[in-house]
Amino acid sequence: MSNYKLIHLPADLPSIPQPVDPSAPQYTAPHEIAFLCWCAQHCPGNVLEIGCNYGRTTQALARTNPSKTVYAVDRTTISGLAPEQIGETPVFGLAGRLAWKEPNVALFNLPNGITPELISELKVGMVFIDGDHAYEGVKRDTDALLDADVRGLFVWHDYDILDNPDRKWIEVRRYVDTLSLSPLYVLENSTAACAWIARGTGPDFLGELVI
Ligand SMILES: C[S@@+](CC[C@H](N)C(=O)[O-])C[C@H]1O[C@@H](n2cnc3c(N)ncnc32)[C@H](O)[C@@H]1O
Repeated sequence: MSNYKLIHLPADLPSIPQPVDPSAPQYTAPHEIAFLCWCAQHCPGNVLEIGCNYGRTTQALARTNPSKTVYAVDRTTISGLAPEQIGETPVFGLAGRLAWKEPNVALFNLPNGITPELISELKVGMVFIDGDHAYEGVKRDTDALLDADVRGLFVWHDYDILDNPDRKWIEVRRYVDTLSLSPLYVLENSTAACAWIARGTGPDFLGELVI
């Protein structure tokens, strides 16, 4: 059984701009996107999204955090992805397209995702991990961040506290629980789990949201 604290949405969520193309896939719910944007507004440093897809969340993060750079990563290959996830990978060349015009977005479309060398210079203070959901995939991405000495707020999508048999291929929770993060926060009515990694001093604004 995971040891987590449920948190509620903050009262002062930013309003989220409509995406350029509302027909693009929506993998992250509007209230989760608003929560991510709010977190980014409260975290020092830049934002990194691993698994940006067509850039729906990227665009919102960028518009609500104009003073930060939003780094967004997707991959050009499907090798090693669970069969259920292969269809999520954007059409070649179109990753992040909803955020292409945002002046504060930098996109990386890479064969196999991030490396510690790539991210160590980016001054990242918040990460949204929403790429490969297999155990080894989410571990590889998280390890790369830790190896690059990224410190701050880590948010994993699809942590999934419900034991839904249709979602067994999503192994984010199995991996995240091996980290024994304390406290680990889970947003209510959401699959997002988040924790501070060696954040140093400063207010724990998530702790104030515990239900
Ligand atoms: C669920 S979608 C992400 C949705 C997006 N975060 C949003 O909020 O709109 C998952 C994405 O992760 C990408 N992906 C899978 N493995 C990856 C990896 N190792 N590094 C970066 N992206 C990855 C897929 O190509 C896909 O576009």
